[in-house]
Amino acid sequence: MTSKNILILCGGGGTEHEVSLVSANFFQNILEENKEYAIHKVTIEKDSTRTYQDGRKCELRRAGEIVIEGNETIQIDFAIPVIHGPPGESGEIPAVFELMNLPYFGSTHETSTICFNKITTKLWLESLNIPVTPYVYLTEYDEANILKLKDFFKIHKNIFLKASNQGSSVGCYPVGSESNLDSHLKKCFEFSPYVLAETSVVGRELEVSVYEYEGSIQVSDPGEIICPAGFYSYEEKYNNESQTQTLAKAENLSPEIIKKVKDYARRAFIGLKIRHLARIDFFLTSTGSIYLNEPNTFPGHTPISMFPMMLEGNGHNYRTFLDGIISKELNS
Ligand SMILES: Nc1ncnc2c1ncn2[C@@H]1O[C@H](COP(=O)(O)OP(=O)(O)O)[C@@H](O)[C@H]1O
Ligand SMILES: [Mg+2]
Repeated sequence: MTSKNILILCGGGGTEHEVSLVSANFFQNILEENKEYAIHKVTIEKDSTRTYQDGRKCELRRAGEIVIEGNETIQIDFAIPVIHGPPGESGEIPAVFELMNLPYFGSTHETSTICFNKITTKLWLESLNIPVTPYVYLTEYDEANILKLKDFFKIHKNIFLKASNQGSSVGCYPVGSESNLDSHLKKCFEFSPYVLAETSVVGRELEVSVYEYEGSIQVSDPGEIICPAGFYSYEEKYNNESQTQTLAKAENLSPEIIKKVKDYARRAFIGLKIRHLARIDFFLTSTGSIYLNEPNTFPGHTPISMFPMMLEGNGHNYRTFLDGIISKELNS
């Protein structure tokens, strides 16, 4: 039996570099259980050089090979880009794999790019008739856009300003006072070419895992992020002192709400042509309105991450899931 060479590509220069390394260990542990796989881990360092698992520098070549210092080459069969945020979840790495004709795990570059931009995501969701929070989007830091933002603020009073192409709550600010609008808008434009302003929702944050399993799309019951600070900031997400609690299964939700959330998640997954996996996040208000906040096409896989917990909580096994995707992609 010849083994399959599986590339785990992790790191990246973004804010989630360290989280990616932890998620990569999750994949490595699971893949190591299958003796048919030979695992090759490559880290994209913060300075964008690439390091092979034994510490040698390496490159990925067009034909889907790793070329390691000294000219050793390894032909890869399947790649797993475990990179949250740029350049993985944002689509650049999937595009490279597509050019290489290398089968890989996760969404295509096109879906990744659409879902990583908070504005294109909203436009697609609206056209799929999936409810999103009221918003405006801003294209320049200039007077016309500042006016547009002020008009929006007058109606909504409490808003969130978000740089369009960021994750981990970076470039994301709650704004409750008109005097702070201008300075926060300016900061957002330092992160992204577009900025989204949306109504601040008071309510619960629910998440579901959506994934392809044994030939069909599965949606877990909602889990919940309980964040006493109200804003699930970068610090709340990754700091050891975080007060935030995560529940793989949310409590006290009516069957109707659960059904609606799952239905929106399934429709978003299908409509956006998300592939293999996504964690899809929602807000639920006290009056029962549901808004889809964002799909995450490469969610965290750390020991406290929701995606694998909700998949297992849904009665499925992560290894069976991953093996199923790998064999489907290698045989298609
Ligand atoms: N419209 C909103 N109303 C209330 N809280 C929000 C809103 N948008 C974002 N948040 C808070 O900010 C966090 C990060 O926003 P999100 O859009 O999920 O960006 P990211 O891609 O950085 O995760 C959310 O988990 C939530 O706690
Ligand atoms: Mg989020």
